[in-house]
Amino acid sequence: MPSKLKKVLILCSGGDAPGMNATIRAAVRTAIHHDIEIYGCLLGYHGLIEGNIFQLTNQAVGNIIQRGGTILKTARSMPFLQPEVQTKCQQFLLQQGFDGIVVLGGNGSFQGARALDHNQGLQIVGIPCTIDNDIVGTEYCIGFDTACNTAIKAIDNIRDTAFSHDRNFIIEVMGKNSGFLAMEVGLSVGAELILTPERPYTIDEICTHKTNKTRDKSTSIIVSAECDNPGHSFQLAENIYKQCNEEYKVCVLGHIQRGGSPSATDRVTGTLMGSAAITSLINGDSNIMVAVQNNNITTMRLPSASEKTRFVDYEKMQITNSIVSKT
Ligand code: F6P
Repeated sequence: MPSKLKKVLILCSGGDAPGMNATIRAAVRTAIHHDIEIYGCLLGYHGLIEGNIFQLTNQAVGNIIQRGGTILKTARSMPFLQPEVQTKCQQFLLQQGFDGIVVLGGNGSFQGARALDHNQGLQIVGIPCTIDNDIVGTEYCIGFDTACNTAIKAIDNIRDTAFSHDRNFIIEVMGKNSGFLAMEVGLSVGAELILTPERPYTIDEICTHKTNKTRDKSTSIIVSAECDNPGHSFQLAENIYKQCNEEYKVCVLGHIQRGGSPSATDRVTGTLMGSAAITSLINGDSNIMVAVQNNNITTMRLPSASEKTRFVDYEKMQITNSIVSKT
């Protein structure tokens, strides 16, 4: 049966993630292949408010699969949270003849998309893109693998100098209020301790760990999640020093983790998810999110506003802690 879908808008919202461009490329090319017009919206919902949209072609998405960031740019739009602004945007989209919207971002971005529908005939599909990897319902979010690799490379460098100087380091990674990034990165660099919001450590515990003589190590690398409080590791280092007289240098990796050329995983997952999003719209789906479940690309209902965050499995943490605390 021929698709009724005629005109789709694609936008990015929230923090950028490496692999967004691969995702946009695949969505655009899949849409055009099915004779569907596809438009980009610059700077997420901020751009939508201003009507900043333009038609995308196959050529427009050439030579971008290898680029980090997003050619559509992105934003965290506070004005779009107002219901009257959402209604205005919805009317604009309907007047322009759009029947589908693809949103690349996290849960907040998806809730924004949901507000544009309200049974007015706009089909909504979300694609999970965040280096935090914390969206409920999907085992993977685009950008996570690249961000981990960027952090790992940085920490490997730090380990060289830590070893040379017999120094301890706390390295803070992003992740907002979940610990996926810290856990993956910490395991990959052989961190002596991985601190995540899911399993807070007391200063006493950290000091006991550090002074454990069975470890017989001259340096210690602690990978610490930002815990929704970027830079908190400086205070942590001060508290450790006060408590057990151990000095820790602090390195907050920050936005370096969000940039850079996407890994193969993020290029391929982005390509598959971008294409799957358009196919789902063609099939008549709405209010759905493309997801990875049991290692397969699938779709599911959009997570609700109350299901914001996925957390690191505490059981896995227990095993991890027994590994990292050994020499
Ligand atoms: O959601 C991705 C993320 O990079 C989080 O890890 C981090 O807390 C936040 O965005 C930083 O946002 P901003 O770039 O707006 O400071």
